[in-house]
Amino acid sequence: MTNVVVIGSQWGDEGKGKIVDWLSERADIVVRFQGGHNAGHTLVIDGTSYKLSLLPSGVVRPGKMAVIGNGVVVDPHALIAEIDKLEKQGVKISPENLRIADNATLILSLHRELDGIREDAASNSNSGVKIGTTRRGIGPAYEDKVGRRAIRIMDLADLETLPGKVERLLTHHNALRRGLGENEVTHETIMQELTSVADRVLPYRETIWLMLDKERRRGARILFEGAQGSLLDIDHGTYPFVTSSNTVAGQASAGSGMGPGSLGYILGITKAYTTRVGEGPFPTELTDEIGQFLGEKGREFGTVTGRKRRCGWFDAALVRQSVATNGITGIALTKLDVLDGLDELKICVGYTLDGKDIDHLPASQGQQARVEPVYITLEGWKESTVGARSWADLPAQAIKYVRQVEELIGAPVALLSTSPERDDTILVTDPFED
Ligand code: GDP
Ligand code: IMO
Ligand code: MG
Repeated sequence: MTNVVVIGSQWGDEGKGKIVDWLSERADIVVRFQGGHNAGHTLVIDGTSYKLSLLPSGVVRPGKMAVIGNGVVVDPHALIAEIDKLEKQGVKISPENLRIADNATLILSLHRELDGIREDAASNSNSGVKIGTTRRGIGPAYEDKVGRRAIRIMDLADLETLPGKVERLLTHHNALRRGLGENEVTHETIMQELTSVADRVLPYRETIWLMLDKERRRGARILFEGAQGSLLDIDHGTYPFVTSSNTVAGQASAGSGMGPGSLGYILGITKAYTTRVGEGPFPTELTDEIGQFLGEKGREFGTVTGRKRRCGWFDAALVRQSVATNGITGIALTKLDVLDGLDELKICVGYTLDGKDIDHLPASQGQQARVEPVYITLEGWKESTVGARSWADLPAQAIKYVRQVEELIGAPVALLSTSPERDDTILVTDPFED
């Protein structure tokens, strides 16, 4: 028996939400450990769709404890709105089933504004790099955390020290805003923002590292839910076109306060092709009718921003890199059904850079933009795999594709997903029992 860490092995939207929901039946606690409401995790249960951004996907299952760890940046307005939205869908949320780390950083409206201001400025001039962020204030909030001037959940309960903290935060932000030609933000505005949300947020506060330590010792099964994907990691991703947190599995430890020795099975959620939202390099991107086919059939529109996701062939070189940087034990291969009906399928096995063969994506932005993918071609299949629940339901060519993926990335398939529905999932190896 072990704990399980779920992370995305590509550029996000691999189907983490569906798999976390499926696995959470076997777990006692589900923990988010990085990112914020830039995530969009969709679960479909008996035809009803639930869209989660900040809350762990385990929250929809009665009797499970959902945890937001210290590594997450929490927008209190988004938190309250998501709790209210889910309650309308019949999911009861209270401190009985949700706890938030008292040392998690808050996203305030000035962070959201700054995210938008920078993106707009970069679009209109050459003064910055347009990342195509979700404009949720994720980057600016992490900057304040690392800059040691952030307001944290626990500060909402300490009205004596809060004004001084707000003062420090505003000294920095107002200097920045003046430089950007924006209005300054007043002390009262931030104090009012904080006091207006405190009563709704504070009941969920918890010393998460302590709670997880106690639960681990009593044998609870803990499932960690990553957001984004490994190629969006601030260190290992396609910098600067990345998010502002570490998204790799090691962050499950730092972002929750549970030591790395207890993490257990690392499950890399992997889409059977590749997608990316926002700007940045994408060697296997397809801008032709096959890319359009994948986008339409896979319904590749962002949950958070509604943007069209860019689509392309499976990039085994990238996922092989994620297997290494996360220490992936096995993968959950999702959306295999989207490939049904294609005559042939290509898989990228490496690249050429300035005429030389290379087996991984280099770290340099200039080189990343110049690499050319090297492909192998496989025969497609005509039969439908939608809703397949056993290997016996899969056409021989589909099994061949899966085996080829395993061999190229150097990790086995533990789970296979064949539709958005919770139960359309083939179990090969139970990560909790491995
Ligand atoms: P996440 O961010 O990794 O949780 O992924 P998203 O929820 O943003 O995007 C994945 C989308 O694919 C969602 O709409 C899911 O309902 C859907 N999905 C998940 N698994 C499968 C699958 O095996 N087949 C199909 N067709 N859709 C899937
Ligand atoms: P889930 O958890 C896909 C992308 C944004 C942008 C970059 C930086 O649903 O897989 P940010 O707002 O984080 O500063 O944006 O990261 N991005 C995602 N792409 N899935 C996500 O989350 C993403 N979260 C952020 O599109 O390119
Ligand atoms: Mg998503």
